[in-house]
Amino acid sequence: LLDLALGGESGLELLEKILFHHPQMTVIMMTGYGSLEDAVKAIKLGATDFIQKPIQLDHLHHLLNTSCTLRILKQENRELKGQLHKTSRIITQDTHFLSLLHKAEKLGKSELPVLILGESGTGKELLAQQIHAASNRSHLPMQHINCAAFTESLLESELFGHRKGAFTGADQTHIGVFENAHQGTLHLDEIGDMALTTQAKILRVLQEGEIKPLGATNSIHVDLRIIASTHASLKDLMEQGLFRQDLYYRLNTAILEIPPLRDRKEDIPLLLQHFIQQEKNSSDIKIEKSALENLKQYPWPGNVRQLKSAIQFALAVCSHNKISLDDFPSEITLPTPSPSNPSDVLGNAERETIERIYRECQYNKKKTAEVLNITRATLYKRLEKYGLQ
Ligand SMILES: Nc1ncnc2c1ncn2[C@@H]1O[C@H](COP(=O)(O)OP(=O)(O)OP(=O)(O)O)[C@@H](O)[C@H]1O
Ligand SMILES: [Mg+2]
Repeated sequence: LLDLALGGESGLELLEKILFHHPQMTVIMMTGYGSLEDAVKAIKLGATDFIQKPIQLDHLHHLLNTSCTLRILKQENRELKGQLHKTSRIITQDTHFLSLLHKAEKLGKSELPVLILGESGTGKELLAQQIHAASNRSHLPMQHINCAAFTESLLESELFGHRKGAFTGADQTHIGVFENAHQGTLHLDEIGDMALTTQAKILRVLQEGEIKPLGATNSIHVDLRIIASTHASLKDLMEQGLFRQDLYYRLNTAILEIPPLRDRKEDIPLLLQHFIQQEKNSSDIKIEKSALENLKQYPWPGNVRQLKSAIQFALAVCSHNKISLDDFPSEITLPTPSPSNPSDVLGNAERETIERIYRECQYNKKKTAEVLNITRATLYKRLEKYGLQ
């Protein structure tokens, strides 16, 4: 219960401070002089209600009761949202990935920009959501933009927005994601697919914390926490002059690289079980042991996303609650083409060596070619031949 007149200080100013530090707080204003105008201001600032003095105890009692009920409902709503979030939690038992998740949880609490790397389908978006959920900005939904989904000029319009009348045809103001994400988190997905000019503009936002929507007279201050992600090797892109070094060094304070599924085979049975449970809500459905062994050997180039859709397919076609290898899509059950065929011993050895060195060089093609003492052109041909691109 907060009075409007507090001697030297204004109740409205204190209300703003309270709600800034405790956004969930329920505040009822008490107005002594019947000032309706100030009461309206208070409600606009976020007060739950107001009561006029002299206070009628019945009325106060009623007001406190409704405010408490509202508070409980809001709390329940937050908990339910939290449970919803848990259903899409990251599943892993891989020690490397678990320690990465531990770091991500801690980084969530900081304000540092985070760069998430990993092949397609490894769970980069899921991880970005978890970092946001662990942050002090989790009361606002995370804003997400896929930089690969827009042409250069459309992307800039999506990022920065424009004001009404900024150009012919701009008959509406369009608020960009930078402005929308103010005080929250912005996930810049597929950042490797952004044009160099857009990269320069993003760097300026990160450095100055200001944006200027097209057609706006003044710059706007934006308070953002950036999580960027990409499946591409930014180092390779930098070498080719396609990614700005200064932006990379601005984003690389905290890098989290999710390992591909083939490097954490023990997660395969766990993930299969998780998706069966999610789809059918039943633990009666079993995968045959021999099928499981085959699935563990499969390289999963599309990572968890591919595994998820494969098990969804198998669940749709299997019978009697038993899933056999034949129930999976043929790309998974058919033996891999000749170079990887067990009879092709030399081909296998070459493929394994290239794959290992490529991984050890962190998928840097220039370095891999140097270590293998072959030209980059030959390396490209081999990578393509063995499907390691
Ligand atoms: N470890 C995991 N546990 C549970 N679900 C996962 C896990 N990893 C990924 N998924 C699920 O797999 C799908 C793909 O994940 P996500 O979209 O986060 O991948 P991504 O790395 O962003 O892929 P892309 O690079 O193609 O955008 C999603 O449905 C996600 O919920
Ligand atoms: Mg993604």
